[in-house]
Amino acid sequence: MRPQDFIKPQDFKRVFSVQRMAKLIDEFGAIGADPLGGVTRLAFSEEDLRAREKIKYIMTEELSLEASVDPWGNIIGRRSGQLKGAPALITGSHLDSVQNGGKFDGPAGVLGAVEAFRALDSFGIKTDHPLELIVFTAEEPSPFGLSTIGSRGMAGKLKKEHLLGKKNDKGEELLDAIARIGGDPDHLEMGVRGSDKIYAFIEIHIEQMPYLEKERKDIGVVQGIAGIHRLRVTILGEAGHAGTTPMRERKDALVASAHLIRELNSLARSEKEKTVATIGQLSLQPNSVNIVPGKAVLEIEIRSFQLDSISRIKRGLDRALVDVEAEMGVKVIQEITYDLHPNTFSPRIREYLHGACRHLGFSSMDLVSMAGHDANHISNITDSGMIFVPSHKGLSHCPEEWTEPKHLVNGAQVLLRALLQLDQNT
Ligand code: HGY
Ligand code: MN
Ligand code: MN
Repeated sequence: MRPQDFIKPQDFKRVFSVQRMAKLIDEFGAIGADPLGGVTRLAFSEEDLRAREKIKYIMTEELSLEASVDPWGNIIGRRSGQLKGAPALITGSHLDSVQNGGKFDGPAGVLGAVEAFRALDSFGIKTDHPLELIVFTAEEPSPFGLSTIGSRGMAGKLKKEHLLGKKNDKGEELLDAIARIGGDPDHLEMGVRGSDKIYAFIEIHIEQMPYLEKERKDIGVVQGIAGIHRLRVTILGEAGHAGTTPMRERKDALVASAHLIRELNSLARSEKEKTVATIGQLSLQPNSVNIVPGKAVLEIEIRSFQLDSISRIKRGLDRALVDVEAEMGVKVIQEITYDLHPNTFSPRIREYLHGACRHLGFSSMDLVSMAGHDANHISNITDSGMIFVPSHKGLSHCPEEWTEPKHLVNGAQVLLRALLQLDQNT
């Protein structure tokens, strides 16, 4: 029997602290607090750098981890194990946010893991496998137009050639930004890891859906993550004087966009539940009140756990693009910017997570995630799983995002229990 076997659930609860978790969430939430509401801590921003420095301090000074930054800028806090050469049990999430987002999306996983590592120290446990707490670079769509940069890089799904020429609106190259946060853009391939180095990965994340709260469940064990298909549609019409261009002679890029927006919406609505489509960004040129829009760029996203739903919507959209070109005399160009198939998580890890909930007396339910996560990509290189904690009304990516600190602590306890069971391979 190992020391951790003697830990009763009530001992677990004794060393975790809801107050400490709430304080930590607020401290990170203050980094990038936006006067217009919520948190704006975009990847590679000054705020992101400050949060990265803070977590590195916690890793080294409070958790006595060996902190490093890999070539992709991922921060890795490593706690050594007793079994020489054993692959690492890894956990973590992201600290970058969306514009005016919440303070839990990402930090729930990073700070929940901090709580779990603190508890390990309180119990004086030495695990067989090394443990790693990872902060992944740029999980959210970054100012350089790419998301999940760190986890895709670590999983070998993103290569240097995908980063070349990517610039932010200040003209900074993405490769330079990776160097600026401590990465090594000249040796990205050194940051790729495989199953020989990683034993399993578990990420705590807020649910960002309303089901746990509705069903009054403490924990969501994630079965898998919906596929995400993103495309950029550029509509080229003709700019013209808003006063002197007759309606019948116009090639109005915005009116053409309106046809696509309505068609995309009805295509998605005609699919079963758990299929969604969104146009979150639309830019116009010249974008002036007295000029007929000559150019429109739409950033489109389709998500579903069913790949055939995504394909059906794509086919419908292709038909609509052809119609709009014929009817309105515009030219349409489409470019796929992200294409992630639905993935399912390891049944083995999911069973460990349900087992940990039973051991600790937490209610749990299976869930499919409609939000994308770093775990999507890490599941390509190791057995992975996710622990969801309830989001109030399912709200996320907005200032109203809220998760009770006690729920975050529940998630941290389930994480620790599952990691210890995995470590013992029991
Ligand atoms: O967009 C997403 O699903 C995630 O929040 N990055
Ligand atoms: Mn998010
Ligand atoms: Mn997230």
